[in-house]
Amino acid sequence: MKVTVVGAGNVGATCADVLATREIANEIVLLDIKEGFAEGKALDIWQTAPINLYDSRTVGSTNDYARTADSDVVVITSGLPRKPGMSRDDLIATNAGIVKTVTENVVKYSPNAIIIVVSNPLDVMTYCAFLNANMPSSRVFGMAGVLDTARYRAFLAEELNVSPKDIQAVLMGGHGDTMVPLPRYTTVGGIPVTELIDEARLNEIIERTKFGGGEIVKLLGTSAWYAPGAAAAQMVEAVVRDQKRIFPVCAWLQGEYGMSDIYLGVPVVLGKNGIEKIIELQLNEAERALLVDSAEAVKGVMDVLDNMNANA
Ligand code: NAI
Ligand code: 2OP
Repeated sequence: MKVTVVGAGNVGATCADVLATREIANEIVLLDIKEGFAEGKALDIWQTAPINLYDSRTVGSTNDYARTADSDVVVITSGLPRKPGMSRDDLIATNAGIVKTVTENVVKYSPNAIIIVVSNPLDVMTYCAFLNANMPSSRVFGMAGVLDTARYRAFLAEELNVSPKDIQAVLMGGHGDTMVPLPRYTTVGGIPVTELIDEARLNEIIERTKFGGGEIVKLLGTSAWYAPGAAAAQMVEAVVRDQKRIFPVCAWLQGEYGMSDIYLGVPVVLGKNGIEKIIELQLNEAERALLVDSAEAVKGVMDVLDNMNANA
């Protein structure tokens, strides 16, 4: 299996490292626009192979997409972080330009690839890749829910002093503070979390989860990369090993949850064909209202991109 990771920055390089170390792919191409950057990161990752005892081969490329040809999966992490003085619309315009060019190049050399978008703002960048990929939506989707759910599970494990392995949860909606945690669908070793943590404390944990990305930005001055890179690699693994994992994924909705023409985080089955099924949970009224609010926020950002494209 061949996997390309576009963007050799913090998230991309971490994703490539996890893919290699866990032998999720036997060939990993790391590509970046910055001269020599991907080659340097790839060489460093490859030199961990004799230490960590694996044989997946990681190579780097400066913007040469021929090197990525016939990839089975492509992860897109290229993009700029928001800088002081930059408006949200400026960021969307800049990153949409990057994601558009990257997607066109990826599809030219790997027309049968599955594309996983990581670049922010996540939901609208996934939409941007979809608009430019000319592929079925089952093959173009975004990573956010796996990360957001991991944060939630880590906080719950810490609170209860139990293994994070035993915590199962699902978060829905957009990647941001309108994400929709679902305590009703959160279990700890099969026990509903609501039997183990009182409502007030659970709400505090949920609030921390919603702002989990910001918490790390405050501490580091830049956004997280270990968990995002590992989350993207876990999604790649589900595809290349045809695992049929159930993950929250940013997916194109066409009637599911009563919504259409929107990329939004929902639980799906991930396997060799990409999104093989969107799972429709029976949401109660309060949960549904939160999902609708989140969808409205995402749609607002998608409209910004649509207007930019209409005026281009
Ligand atoms: P970074 O700045 O460390 O890396 C981005 C890389 O993209 C840089 O090396 C840059 O040279 C490269 N790049 C820029 N334009 C390119 C182009 N046209 N072609 C190829 N490469 C190009 O940033 P980091 O921390 O790795 O984050 C990457 C993206 O992922 C950001 O947009 C960030 O906001 C997003 N992110 C999303 C998360 C999610 O849950 N979906 C979580 C964490 C980060
Ligand atoms: C995160 O959630 C900023 O999207 C990034 O860490």
